[in-house]
Amino acid sequence: MNANNSEPIIVAFCCHYCAYAAADLAGSGRLQYPPNIRIVRMPCTGRLEVNFLMKAFEAGADGVLVAGCEEGSCHFKEGNYLAKGRVNTARQLLEEAGLEPQRLRMVNVSAASSQKFAEYIREIVETVTGLGPSPVKKMEKRTTNQEQTGVMP
Ligand code: FES
Repeated sequence: MNANNSEPIIVAFCCHYCAYAAADLAGSGRLQYPPNIRIVRMPCTGRLEVNFLMKAFEAGADGVLVAGCEEGSCHFKEGNYLAKGRVNTARQLLEEAGLEPQRLRMVNVSAASSQKFAEYIREIVETVTGLGPSPVKKMEKRTTNQEQTGVMP
């Protein structure tokens, strides 16, 4: 649990061919991993743009995981390499905006790696739980309270 006694919300952008298949296999194999994850299936992580990642935080995610095929195994040749670069750019932007870059992580898994996928979910949930709720969420909550009470700083 985080400082607000609520579970963190993690958005996971998963490529259809590997990461989503691994998540599916984890589910059918009844592997245990935290239920905090909201999976967004994508044809390939190469489709991700930096603004998708930032938008997830704006929409209330406490953490974001990008899960693509293993390096050298992307079905669209280099989509996961493109995603890796965009994730690094987004991590820098997060840091400049005052968010911990550890809230965003990219991993690579094969379709058969259900155990590894579950482990990555556990790791990011643990990391983000330790960091507490996203500062963006806290800022929004403060703004909403101010709007409701009519008290502005
Ligand atoms: Fe999986 Fe490109 S198809 S990362």
